[in-house]
Amino acid sequence: GYDVSKLLKQTGAVTFDPGFMNTAATTSAITYIDGDAGVLRYRGYPIEQLAEHSSFLEVSYLLIYGELPTPTELETFDHKIRRHTLLHEELKGFFGGFPRDAHPMPVLSSAVSALSTFYQDSLDPFDDEQVELSTIRLMAKMPVIAAYAHKKSIGQALLYPDNSMNLVENYLRLSFGLAAEPYELDPTVVKALDLLLILHADHEQNCSTSTVRLVGSSNANMFASVSAGINALFGPLHGGANEAVLNMLRQIQASGQAPEQFMEKVKNKEEGVRLMGFGHRVYKNYDPRARLVKATAHEILGKLGGNDELLDIAMRLEEKALADDYFIERKLYPNVDFYTGLIYKAMGFPEKMFTVLFAIGRLPGWIAQWREMIKDPQTKIGRPRQLYTGAQERQYPAR
Ligand code: ACO
Repeated sequence: GYDVSKLLKQTGAVTFDPGFMNTAATTSAITYIDGDAGVLRYRGYPIEQLAEHSSFLEVSYLLIYGELPTPTELETFDHKIRRHTLLHEELKGFFGGFPRDAHPMPVLSSAVSALSTFYQDSLDPFDDEQVELSTIRLMAKMPVIAAYAHKKSIGQALLYPDNSMNLVENYLRLSFGLAAEPYELDPTVVKALDLLLILHADHEQNCSTSTVRLVGSSNANMFASVSAGINALFGPLHGGANEAVLNMLRQIQASGQAPEQFMEKVKNKEEGVRLMGFGHRVYKNYDPRARLVKATAHEILGKLGGNDELLDIAMRLEEKALADDYFIERKLYPNVDFYTGLIYKAMGFPEKMFTVLFAIGRLPGWIAQWREMIKDPQTKIGRPRQLYTGAQERQYPAR
């Protein structure tokens, strides 16, 4: 009911772009996406090549520092992270303060925010050494915080990190190990988790990354900015899709209906039913990450004996959708989340941890984008305009 061009003129603004669908807020040299062609590259390297040859640690280095590390650089990075995994004992006290059934995402964001109070020697965003120290602290401590949030929610003791293990191995041990028993790493699980973290490591200016940049543009420190990003990722429209896929597959299984029947409901838009894990704002072609995840889903469910029936339902839905005019016309393809929930479940993670795993994966991307933002001479404090549609000036009534 209002005239946008008139409001724009009044405001002196040029564009009205809710959701920033058409506004580039920054230049960036980190991640390239071509949504029509289904292309994703980190620092120029195709995601398929990184998935096959690299590791999460190496990809983190690539995103943060801009180049693949030499073997010595990678070893130093790994070593520094291993040395910084311990949490301050007082910070560990936080975990006892939350309700037992607390969702691990706000526990994670609160504890990451609290790092600003424990590490006041690394908060200056313009001191390169301090930025480096915060980078290592976040990379080392966030997986530990995530594992502790999980352990608390199931009432188990918190383990000390074992620095003979790398980041991914340590995270698995801290999540599933028991104090009294040695923890046996399953190489298939380590490899699969490493891959999933690589695939989530960056995705240019999505909601949480834009949040990290916006908060950081006020010169807030890296811990405060990343904590805000975690909160943005907590929203079901952003980080919660893999949980929604699993719920959908379970509902189909429980109702006893054939996947084909469910597809009819989706196509008729009955009760707003959507095929969860399908479609993407940017990819109008097969999400390249979904292809890689699909192969892993088969391998890991075959090995760990996950719920094959749910995988069968997922595969039948995918097969039907890819051959269906409704999905073809709308360019709806599986996104990265279509299979990840099934894999995390087979690894033993409860559903509430799925978004936390996304956050651990996205961390190097957030750090890289924050560091790029803080060094960029073009950066200004983020301050969007608005089109005012409220009351005109009026007088306070005489009473
Ligand atoms: N199932 C059925 N129909 C769909 C789906 C779907 N999953 N997604 C889009 N459509 C239809 C819409 O109904 C619409 O049809 P219409 O033109 O007849 O009205 C058309 O496709 C375009 O849909 P939009 O909602 O306009 O597309 P948008 O780009 O805004 O949405 C989104 C993208 C939110 C991801 C959407 O595809 C969706 O809701 N998917 C399911 C949820 C999901 O998997 N989210 C995870 C995203 S990936 C991530 O966060 C890592």
